[in-house]
Amino acid sequence: MLVLGIESSCDETAAAVVADGKMFSNVIASQIKDHSKYGGVVPEIASRKHIEAIYTVLGEALDNAQVTLADIEGIAVTSGPGLIGSLLIGLSAAKALAYACNIPLVGVNHLEGHIAASFLAEKTPAFPFVALVVSGGHTNVYLAKNHHDFILLGQTRDDAAGEAFDKAAKLLNLGYPGGVVIDKMAKSGNPQAVAFPRAMKDSPDFSFSGLKTSLLTMLKKRGCDFEKSQLPDVVASYQEAIVDVLVEKTIRAAGDNGIDRIVVCGGVAANGRLREKFSAAAAARKIDLFIPPILLCTDNAAMIAAIGEIMLKNGHRDSLNLNAVSRWPLV
Ligand code: KG4
Ligand code: ZN
Repeated sequence: MLVLGIESSCDETAAAVVADGKMFSNVIASQIKDHSKYGGVVPEIASRKHIEAIYTVLGEALDNAQVTLADIEGIAVTSGPGLIGSLLIGLSAAKALAYACNIPLVGVNHLEGHIAASFLAEKTPAFPFVALVVSGGHTNVYLAKNHHDFILLGQTRDDAAGEAFDKAAKLLNLGYPGGVVIDKMAKSGNPQAVAFPRAMKDSPDFSFSGLKTSLLTMLKKRGCDFEKSQLPDVVASYQEAIVDVLVEKTIRAAGDNGIDRIVVCGGVAANGRLREKFSAAAAARKIDLFIPPILLCTDNAAMIAAIGEIMLKNGHRDSLNLNAVSRWPLV
């Protein structure tokens, strides 16, 4: 089934064509340069930029897949969670196309989309598996029993892991989005240089706000003694503190539930050190690890089309009354 996916929940305008679980195009227009001077996403700017980009992005997605609208058999669109003004742009485009082409429409949960990115690979995870969804807004560990049946095993009590990266980069004046900058800079630093805290060690839940405070306290203490040359060590240690708890708690959740398959997805799953440490930990415990390629970890529409195709094939349909929702927990 040829499905057009549309994603506009935050600051990426994206469209993709997927058929039978294979990706035929994946177009992403990033708004990073529009938001970077503000150190984060400005919702009003994001909505406006989505309007400017959506038409071109849709056209490119069809062209790259070498299909026309007449070939498309279903439309999948992110209908939440996310920024409401941003979501509405993708949703309006999706509804207009579904109406004009008289084809089915399905609204997709963005988090379910992130998990479905792993279904686009050559080797896909069988159910049940444990999924870590780790992004700018979420840090959740689920037991996925099937495509729509999830049990929440752990979640952040405060900041998401991506937020912890972004806030640290802002404190250190490194730019936005913080995860990418820190990932790059940390490669030349010593991850053992600073002993940052690992919070809630014995809980299945996460907490990252204390880590950010600990960085702030360290910066205040060091004051003007803080040398630029120490930055790689600081960010490598900070990154290590985030990565360690993500790996440890996800692996523990899998063990506690007798599961030997783990999916790691969402923007933070693009992190080099996280991928490295997850691979090592999974290999040591004979766990089958599924991490999508970097381009499918951060926001994209191929993952939306992937889960959308499964939903459409299972008979899911949404009417043109479908609305966007800013908060939509999977469980
Ligand atoms: O999934 P995503 O693109 O959007 C949301 O659904 O939130 O995730 C964005 C988050 C941002 O916080 C960004 O800093 C983080 O993912 N991120 C990374 C990396 N690339 C993106 N964090 C660590 N290392 C990276 N390489
Ligand atoms: Zn996302």
